[in-house]
Amino acid sequence: MKDVLEELEKRRAQAKLGGGQVRIDAQHARGKLTARERIELLLDGGSFEEFDMFVEHRGTEFGTEKNRIPGDGVVTGWGTINGRMVYVYAKDFTVLGGSTSEAHAQKICKIMDMAMQNGAPVIGLFDSGGARIQEGVAALAGFGEIFKRNVLASGVVPQISVIMGPCAGGDVYSPALTDFVFMVQGTSYMFITGPEVTKTVTHEDVTPEELGGSKIHTTRSSVADGAYENDITCLEEIRRLYDFLPLNNRDAAPKWPVEDDPRRQDLSLDTLVPDNANKPYDMMELIQKVIDEGDFFEIGEAFARNIITGFGRIEGSTVGFVANQPMALAGVLDSDASRKAARFVRFCDCFNIPLVTFVDVPGFMPGTAQEHGGIIKHGAKLLFAYAEATVPKVTVITRKAYGGAYDVMASKHMRADVNYAWPSAQIAVMGPKGAVEIIFKKEGPEAIPARIAEYEDRFLNPFIAASRGYIDDVIRPHSTRWRIARALRMLKNKQVAQIWKKHDNIPL
Ligand code: HXC
Repeated sequence: MKDVLEELEKRRAQAKLGGGQVRIDAQHARGKLTARERIELLLDGGSFEEFDMFVEHRGTEFGTEKNRIPGDGVVTGWGTINGRMVYVYAKDFTVLGGSTSEAHAQKICKIMDMAMQNGAPVIGLFDSGGARIQEGVAALAGFGEIFKRNVLASGVVPQISVIMGPCAGGDVYSPALTDFVFMVQGTSYMFITGPEVTKTVTHEDVTPEELGGSKIHTTRSSVADGAYENDITCLEEIRRLYDFLPLNNRDAAPKWPVEDDPRRQDLSLDTLVPDNANKPYDMMELIQKVIDEGDFFEIGEAFARNIITGFGRIEGSTVGFVANQPMALAGVLDSDASRKAARFVRFCDCFNIPLVTFVDVPGFMPGTAQEHGGIIKHGAKLLFAYAEATVPKVTVITRKAYGGAYDVMASKHMRADVNYAWPSAQIAVMGPKGAVEIIFKKEGPEAIPARIAEYEDRFLNPFIAASRGYIDDVIRPHSTRWRIARALRMLKNKQVAQIWKKHDNIPL
């Protein structure tokens, strides 16, 4: 017995060494942790149970048969984050650059199947050169099997991808199919084809950072939802995010003990909206003051800053917040903001997370750039997402709710359940100047100031909408937290009967 136990320990130790100490040292020298170190930080101490540590690849080409490393470049298994189950896999760059072979893909598929069957999220930690080139179509088939499972798992269990090194070829498509993608600044890259192929094909000379670094993907492409300065901070933040998410689509979002009184009033909110309607204010202040203990996890912070999306809690339970941000582009809805918010709304709806929407929107962004860029279709995405969502929806209009953007931003007409407005709300087809210049054009410029005053008096308040029942109540700003908490309590058992359909057809 002693011999076989020794043999087991020897094999385990060998597998844990991955590509060997020299490559581990090289990984550290680049400021990156190893796959196992990352899993250790992500999960609760001692909770990780590894599967398939002894799996080896079956390749025989280009000398690969002489280079079989147990585990084959990916560490897979399950564990817990703050006591809640999670499946995890981490690509090991020290083994053939973390590249994906057929066997490597099968290990990932095994835990994805378990995750779907047993109802727990999957977190993938990426650091990989893409398809194992020496394996040819077998590696591509492996990727295909992963992609298929990403799609099948979508809306069943949350899927999170964390990019912690280079990530090329097939290894970027799996993250793109998951719910959230996070990156590490300076050490992670995502591209379908790297700088060298790019140079050959398009003659562009770019660095990996310029082609697919975290700055590009969090500010321009919107492929990534956030980036953190190093592996440790990144994994800590993923743990924080995890605490907001339900385990699966049949589970309720977790409820954590909380000290923050739901009746807490905040008198400073009564003066948050400036008297001058053209002056910005920080919508984040409202979110922070409404949620439990100011604990907010923002999604897509650096992209389309004119809309805020993220998770907070009310009475200890997760709520998804969508809010126009007057500090950026006056909170206007453009294509990027619409896409960002639509995706977030759909995530919340998949996983039973109630939505709270704060509205201060001057309308949709005009101009050729937006029109030619398809704002009609992109704006329709957000409208579609809100209208199809069946989770509890509570809306508070703080100031402007103009035009089509009023309809889109979780209005009663989009099946929102409870719609409140602050006394400072202005619900109208458009702002006073634009409106008066159209309807009183014939009266000449001298009539405009008086007409503006008349328009402001008549339309720029919440009471016309309230008189039609489109606004359920006009509330005092300082009571917003308690009113939302009560609305969410009231909606806790919401059920919606739906017309049968296979699935809808959101304007993609
Ligand atoms: C096999 C690979 C590999 C791969 C890296 N390696 N990528 N082995 N298949 N895809 C191996 C290298 O040969 C090397 O082994 C070790 O990993 C480390 O790689 P280096 O190049 O030395 O490291 P670095 O300089 O840091 O560069 C990392 C890298 C680069 C940026 C990831 O290796 C690279 O560009 N790889 C190829 C990326 C790519 O084009 N992939 C697309 C594959 S096609 P040794 O033993 O020499 O140290 C694909 C299609 C799927 O994925 C499409 C589905 C839709």
